Amino acid sequence: MSRQPLVAGNWKLHGNKSMVRGLMDSILAAVAESDTTEVAVMPPYPFLAQVQELIAGAGATGVRLGAQNLSIHDEGAYTGEVSAGMLVEFGCQYVLTGHSERRALFGETDQMVADKFVAAQRAGLQPVLCLGETLEQREDGITEAVIGRQLDAVITQSGVAAFADAVVAYEPVWAIGTGKTASPEQAQEVHAFIRRTIADMDAKIAGSLRILYGGSVKPDNAADLFNQEDIDGGLIGGAALKATDFISICKAL
Ligand code: 13P
Repeated sequence: MSRQPLVAGNWKLHGNKSMVRGLMDSILAAVAESDTTEVAVMPPYPFLAQVQELIAGAGATGVRLGAQNLSIHDEGAYTGEVSAGMLVEFGCQYVLTGHSERRALFGETDQMVADKFVAAQRAGLQPVLCLGETLEQREDGITEAVIGRQLDAVITQSGVAAFADAVVAYEPVWAIGTGKTASPEQAQEVHAFIRRTIADMDAKIAGSLRILYGGSVKPDNAADLFNQEDIDGGLIGGAALKATDFISICKAL
Protein backbone atom coordinates (compact mmCIF):
# COMPACT_ATOMS: atom_id res chain seq x y z
CA MET A 1 0.00 0.00 0.00
CA SER A 2 1.64 3.24 -1.00
CA ARG A 3 0.81 6.24 1.10
CA GLN A 4 2.37 9.59 0.30
CA PRO A 5 4.37 10.66 3.35
CA LEU A 6 3.44 13.98 4.94
CA VAL A 7 5.42 16.23 7.26
CA ALA A 8 3.41 19.08 8.77
CA GLY A 9 4.87 21.90 10.83
CA ASN A 10 2.58 23.21 13.55
CA TRP A 11 4.01 26.61 14.50
CA LYS A 12 1.60 27.00 17.45
CA LEU A 13 1.63 30.55 18.89
CA HIS A 14 4.92 31.67 17.37
CA GLY A 15 6.06 34.00 14.64
CA ASN A 16 6.16 37.50 13.23
CA LYS A 17 6.25 38.70 9.64
CA SER A 18 10.01 38.71 9.24
CA MET A 19 10.46 35.32 10.87
CA VAL A 20 7.75 33.93 8.58
CA ARG A 21 9.51 35.25 5.51
CA GLY A 22 12.89 33.82 6.53
CA LEU A 23 11.50 30.44 7.48
CA MET A 24 9.37 30.13 4.35
CA ASP A 25 12.20 31.23 2.02
CA SER A 26 14.35 28.40 3.35
CA ILE A 27 11.57 25.80 3.25
CA LEU A 28 10.44 26.76 -0.25
CA ALA A 29 13.99 26.63 -1.58
CA ALA A 30 14.62 23.20 -0.05
CA VAL A 31 11.31 21.53 -0.79
CA ALA A 32 11.32 22.46 -4.47
CA GLU A 33 13.74 19.59 -5.00
CA SER A 34 11.60 16.91 -3.43
CA ASP A 35 8.54 15.33 -4.94
CA THR A 36 7.89 12.29 -2.77
CA THR A 37 7.15 13.84 0.62
CA GLU A 38 4.32 16.29 1.00
CA VAL A 39 5.20 19.21 3.26
CA ALA A 40 2.70 21.41 5.06
CA VAL A 41 3.09 24.46 7.27
CA MET A 42 0.50 25.55 9.83
CA PRO A 43 1.10 29.14 10.90
CA PRO A 44 -1.13 31.21 13.20
CA TYR A 45 -4.14 32.74 11.37
CA PRO A 46 -2.69 36.25 10.77
CA PHE A 47 0.18 34.82 8.72
CA LEU A 48 -1.90 32.64 6.41
CA ALA A 49 -2.19 35.30 3.71
CA GLN A 50 1.55 36.01 3.82
CA VAL A 51 2.45 32.33 3.59
CA GLN A 52 -0.11 31.78 0.82
CA GLU A 53 1.56 34.56 -1.21
CA LEU A 54 5.06 33.26 -0.56
CA ILE A 55 4.06 29.76 -1.71
CA ALA A 56 2.38 31.16 -4.84
CA GLY A 57 5.38 33.41 -5.54
CA ALA A 58 7.73 30.43 -5.35
CA GLY A 59 5.60 28.58 -7.91
CA ALA A 60 3.64 26.07 -5.81
CA THR A 61 6.38 23.63 -5.03
CA GLY A 62 4.39 21.03 -3.17
CA VAL A 63 4.31 23.01 0.06
CA ARG A 64 0.80 22.99 1.47
CA LEU A 65 -0.85 25.32 3.90
CA GLY A 66 -2.82 24.35 6.97
CA ALA A 67 -4.39 26.01 9.99
CA GLN A 68 -4.30 25.06 13.65
CA ASN A 69 -7.97 25.42 14.52
CA LEU A 70 -11.38 26.30 13.09
CA SER A 71 -14.92 27.13 14.14
CA ILE A 72 -17.71 24.57 14.02
CA HIS A 73 -19.83 27.36 12.46
CA ASP A 74 -19.78 28.53 8.86
CA GLU A 75 -20.76 32.10 9.70
CA GLY A 76 -22.75 34.16 12.16
CA ALA A 77 -22.48 36.01 15.46
CA TYR A 78 -19.48 34.09 16.83
CA THR A 79 -16.95 36.72 17.84
CA GLY A 80 -13.35 35.66 17.48
CA GLU A 81 -14.04 32.57 15.41
CA VAL A 82 -12.62 31.62 12.00
CA SER A 83 -14.58 29.39 9.64
CA ALA A 84 -13.40 26.56 7.44
CA GLY A 85 -14.54 28.47 4.35
CA MET A 86 -12.28 31.39 5.29
CA LEU A 87 -9.34 29.01 5.64
CA VAL A 88 -10.05 27.61 2.19
CA GLU A 89 -10.09 31.13 0.77
CA PHE A 90 -6.60 31.66 2.15
CA GLY A 91 -5.27 28.55 0.49
CA CYS A 92 -5.50 26.06 3.34
CA GLN A 93 -5.82 22.41 2.53
CA TYR A 94 -5.38 21.03 6.05
CA VAL A 95 -6.59 21.96 9.52
CA LEU A 96 -5.73 20.45 12.88
CA THR A 97 -8.61 19.13 14.97
CA GLY A 98 -8.36 17.80 18.48
CA HIS A 99 -4.82 18.89 19.24
CA SER A 100 -4.13 18.00 22.88
CA GLU A 101 -3.45 21.66 23.69
CA ARG A 102 -6.95 22.53 22.43
CA ARG A 103 -8.43 19.65 24.42
CA ALA A 104 -6.52 20.39 27.64
CA LEU A 105 -6.25 24.20 27.67
CA PHE A 106 -9.39 25.26 25.78
CA GLY A 107 -11.86 22.65 26.95
CA GLU A 108 -12.46 20.95 23.63
CA THR A 109 -14.43 17.77 24.17
CA ASP A 110 -14.55 14.71 21.92
CA GLN A 111 -17.89 16.00 20.63
CA MET A 112 -16.49 19.45 19.76
CA VAL A 113 -13.58 17.80 17.99
CA ALA A 114 -16.02 15.68 15.99
CA ASP A 115 -18.03 18.81 15.09
CA LYS A 116 -14.86 20.58 13.91
CA PHE A 117 -13.91 17.54 11.84
CA VAL A 118 -17.31 17.74 10.12
CA ALA A 119 -17.06 21.52 9.61
CA ALA A 120 -13.62 21.14 8.02
CA GLN A 121 -14.76 18.49 5.55
CA ARG A 122 -17.94 20.43 4.71
CA ALA A 123 -15.70 23.19 3.33
CA GLY A 124 -13.34 20.81 1.54
CA LEU A 125 -10.49 20.89 4.07
CA GLN A 126 -8.69 17.75 5.18
CA PRO A 127 -8.85 17.53 8.95
CA VAL A 128 -5.74 16.27 10.71
CA LEU A 129 -7.32 14.51 13.67
CA CYS A 130 -4.97 14.47 16.66
CA LEU A 131 -5.21 11.65 19.20
CA GLY A 132 -3.11 11.04 22.28
CA GLU A 133 -2.95 9.81 25.84
CA THR A 134 -1.45 11.51 28.89
CA LEU A 135 1.42 10.00 30.85
CA GLU A 136 -0.98 9.00 33.62
CA GLN A 137 -3.25 7.22 31.15
CA ARG A 138 -0.28 5.38 29.66
CA GLU A 139 0.92 4.31 33.10
CA ASP A 140 -2.60 3.13 33.93
CA GLY A 141 -2.49 0.94 30.83
CA ILE A 142 -5.45 2.64 29.14
CA THR A 143 -3.68 4.12 26.11
CA GLU A 144 -5.72 2.12 23.59
CA ALA A 145 -8.97 2.81 25.42
CA VAL A 146 -8.30 6.56 25.32
CA ILE A 147 -7.24 6.62 21.66
CA GLY A 148 -10.16 4.37 20.76
CA ARG A 149 -12.62 6.69 22.50
CA GLN A 150 -11.21 9.80 20.78
CA LEU A 151 -11.39 8.04 17.42
CA ASP A 152 -14.87 6.62 17.98
CA ALA A 153 -16.31 10.07 18.67
CA VAL A 154 -15.39 11.13 15.14
CA ILE A 155 -16.38 7.84 13.49
CA THR A 156 -19.79 7.95 15.18
CA GLN A 157 -20.42 11.44 13.85
CA SER A 158 -18.85 11.21 10.38
CA GLY A 159 -18.73 7.52 9.53
CA VAL A 160 -15.56 5.67 8.66
CA ALA A 161 -15.80 6.73 4.98
CA ALA A 162 -14.89 10.28 6.04
CA PHE A 163 -11.37 9.05 6.77
CA ALA A 164 -10.76 8.79 3.03
CA ASP A 165 -10.34 12.59 3.17
CA ALA A 166 -8.59 13.00 6.49
CA VAL A 167 -5.26 12.46 8.19
CA VAL A 168 -4.74 11.12 11.71
CA ALA A 169 -1.91 12.22 14.00
CA TYR A 170 -0.87 10.24 17.06
CA GLU A 171 0.58 12.69 19.56
CA PRO A 172 1.22 11.26 23.02
CA VAL A 173 0.65 14.21 25.35
CA TRP A 174 3.71 13.28 27.44
CA ALA A 175 5.95 13.63 24.37
CA ILE A 176 4.80 17.07 23.25
CA GLY A 177 7.39 19.77 23.85
CA THR A 178 9.05 17.65 26.54
CA GLY A 179 12.01 16.32 24.57
CA LYS A 180 10.72 12.84 25.48
CA THR A 181 9.89 11.03 22.25
CA ALA A 182 7.90 7.84 22.09
CA SER A 183 10.26 5.07 21.01
CA PRO A 184 9.69 3.93 17.43
CA GLU A 185 8.21 0.68 18.85
CA GLN A 186 5.84 2.50 21.23
CA ALA A 187 4.64 4.76 18.43
CA GLN A 188 4.28 1.89 15.94
CA GLU A 189 2.16 -0.05 18.45
CA VAL A 190 -0.38 2.77 18.71
CA HIS A 191 -0.30 3.53 14.98
CA ALA A 192 -1.03 -0.13 14.25
CA PHE A 193 -3.91 -0.03 16.76
CA ILE A 194 -5.40 3.02 15.01
CA ARG A 195 -5.09 1.41 11.59
CA ARG A 196 -6.57 -1.87 12.88
CA THR A 197 -9.52 -0.03 14.41
CA ILE A 198 -10.30 1.62 11.07
CA ALA A 199 -9.59 -1.61 9.14
CA ASP A 200 -12.20 -3.47 11.19
CA MET A 201 -14.73 -1.17 9.52
CA ASP A 202 -13.12 -0.54 6.14
CA ALA A 203 -9.85 -2.17 5.12
CA LYS A 204 -9.38 -0.07 2.00
CA ILE A 205 -9.67 3.23 3.84
CA ALA A 206 -7.37 1.97 6.59
CA GLY A 207 -4.78 0.97 4.00
CA SER A 208 -4.62 4.42 2.47
CA LEU A 209 -5.01 6.46 5.68
CA ARG A 210 -1.96 8.52 6.59
CA ILE A 211 -1.13 8.35 10.30
CA LEU A 212 1.47 10.90 11.45
CA TYR A 213 3.49 10.80 14.63
CA GLY A 214 3.98 13.97 16.69
CA GLY A 215 5.84 14.65 19.92
CA SER A 216 9.46 15.86 20.13
CA VAL A 217 10.35 14.78 16.59
CA LYS A 218 13.85 16.05 15.87
CA PRO A 219 16.34 15.54 13.01
CA ASP A 220 18.14 12.82 14.98
CA ASN A 221 15.08 10.66 15.77
CA ALA A 222 12.92 11.26 12.69
CA ALA A 223 14.31 8.51 10.46
CA ASP A 224 13.83 5.75 13.06
CA LEU A 225 10.24 6.82 13.65
CA PHE A 226 9.43 7.20 9.95
CA ASN A 227 10.86 3.74 9.24
CA GLN A 228 8.02 2.11 11.14
CA GLU A 229 5.44 0.38 9.00
CA ASP A 230 2.43 2.40 10.13
CA ILE A 231 4.09 5.80 10.57
CA ASP A 232 3.45 7.87 7.45
CA GLY A 233 5.10 11.11 8.48
CA GLY A 234 5.24 13.63 11.28
CA LEU A 235 3.45 16.49 12.94
CA ILE A 236 6.27 18.72 14.10
CA GLY A 237 6.10 21.44 16.75
CA GLY A 238 9.30 23.02 18.09
CA ALA A 239 11.54 21.75 15.31
CA ALA A 240 9.21 23.27 12.68
CA LEU A 241 10.34 26.74 13.73
CA LYS A 242 13.94 26.12 12.73
CA ALA A 243 14.36 25.82 8.96
CA THR A 244 17.38 23.51 9.04
CA ASP A 245 15.73 21.13 11.52
CA PHE A 246 12.39 21.09 9.71
CA ILE A 247 14.02 20.50 6.34
CA SER A 248 16.19 17.67 7.62
CA ILE A 249 13.10 16.04 9.18
CA CYS A 250 11.35 16.29 5.79
CA LYS A 251 14.38 14.71 4.13
CA ALA A 252 14.39 11.87 6.68
CA LEU A 253 11.30 10.47 5.01
P1 13P B 1 6.79 19.23 19.65
O1 13P B 1 7.37 18.73 18.34
O2 13P B 1 7.30 20.57 20.04
O3 13P B 1 6.89 18.20 20.74
O4 13P B 1 5.21 19.44 19.38
C1 13P B 1 4.47 18.44 18.81
C2 13P B 1 3.12 18.97 18.48
O5 13P B 1 2.33 19.26 19.35
C3 13P B 1 2.79 19.17 17.06
O6 13P B 1 1.43 19.41 16.90
